[in-house]
Amino acid sequence: MERRFPKGFLWGTSSAAHQVEGDNRNSDWWEWEQQPGRIKNGDSSAVACDHYRRYREDFALLRELNQNAHRLSIEWSRIEPSEGTFDARQIRHYRDVLGELREQAMLPMVTLHHFTSPQWFARKGGWNSPDSPRAFLPFVRRVVEDLGDLVGLWCTINEPSIYAANGWITGEFPPGRHGDLVAQYRVTSNMHRAHELAYAAIKKRYPDAPVGLSHHKFLLVPATARRLDRVAAAAAQGVTDRWPVARGRLRPIVAATSDYIGIAHYWGQLCAFDPRRPQDQFVRRFNPPGRLTEMGFVSDPTWMRGVLAGLRRYGKPVYITENGLATEDDQWRETYLHEVLGEVHAAIHEGVDVRGYFHWTNMDNFEWSKGYSCHFGLIAVDRKTQERTIKPSGRAYARIATSNAVVGVN
Ligand code: BGC
Repeated sequence: MERRFPKGFLWGTSSAAHQVEGDNRNSDWWEWEQQPGRIKNGDSSAVACDHYRRYREDFALLRELNQNAHRLSIEWSRIEPSEGTFDARQIRHYRDVLGELREQAMLPMVTLHHFTSPQWFARKGGWNSPDSPRAFLPFVRRVVEDLGDLVGLWCTINEPSIYAANGWITGEFPPGRHGDLVAQYRVTSNMHRAHELAYAAIKKRYPDAPVGLSHHKFLLVPATARRLDRVAAAAAQGVTDRWPVARGRLRPIVAATSDYIGIAHYWGQLCAFDPRRPQDQFVRRFNPPGRLTEMGFVSDPTWMRGVLAGLRRYGKPVYITENGLATEDDQWRETYLHEVLGEVHAAIHEGVDVRGYFHWTNMDNFEWSKGYSCHFGLIAVDRKTQERTIKPSGRAYARIATSNAVVGVN
């Protein structure tokens, strides 16, 4: 059966500067990666996919896959390497990058902060500092002024909840703190405020440009239909989503000032009430039966529908800013892709206004603390030669984009 998507649906892939560009030396991540034990297998981003120099060929490959959009981030630490100093050469570089995407008929979705910050900003306390939203703003204004005419969709900040949890709870990201709940709240709230300021700055210059942010949705599902398990799952979901404090109230970030809701969804876990776990708020989280991806989680394509259904009440357009599978089994990726897009299609028919899907990711790249051990790409990259090879899943995605339909899912 053929499932056709609405006319004008965006088919793209998603990426982030630090994970693909290479030599991103002014960012806090660069310093972090040089510290022993931070990254799996002793990897560091190093030259990454050398995309900073190879972006033209990389976009040509996406064009070959019939993409009509691409999500990428602009690296703050390149544009503003020291506070208040803007690098005209780097601005020109990103003008070329965005211009090239336009030239190759792909609409750019531009992320302004995707996990990396300039070292000068991190030294001042980073996103845990009360000054952080204001410190972000000059960069935003500069991008709006100098690059705004080339941007199609704006995504101010990538996944505040993941960023705050990884930096201040699990210690996987810089600054590597553990269990600092107060800081975690502060960071999400500061990022939320920064989003609001960025939103206003963009709208002032481009009132019609769609502006939103990407919200990570890790799904926590009750292990059984028992009331206690349902309560446990709902409570754990609240903690995971880490709603920011705005004007003295907890507010879901998806309801923030935004023209669309950006959703990154990959995986989930089951939750059961467990009286023996006071340290975990009486919740036991575990993987459902099923195959684990390289990230160590189960990815059930049917969860996407639940995530999307929960957004209907906001009445806003939705873009899936990220979704994908970390595996070297490309056949699995292809099957997952078909199934998950079947779920997206069903959600659209149930009244969720999904306008586009950005697969994570175009090329195998630097997966943060997991280094190069995860393979999310539709395109393989030889780590020695940088040679790119389109995987069969990439060809399958191209067929979907070309026909604006998924075929053969029930
Ligand atoms: C992030 C990406 C990351 C992906 C897979 C998302 O949370 O935005 O940068 O590569 O997940 O882990």
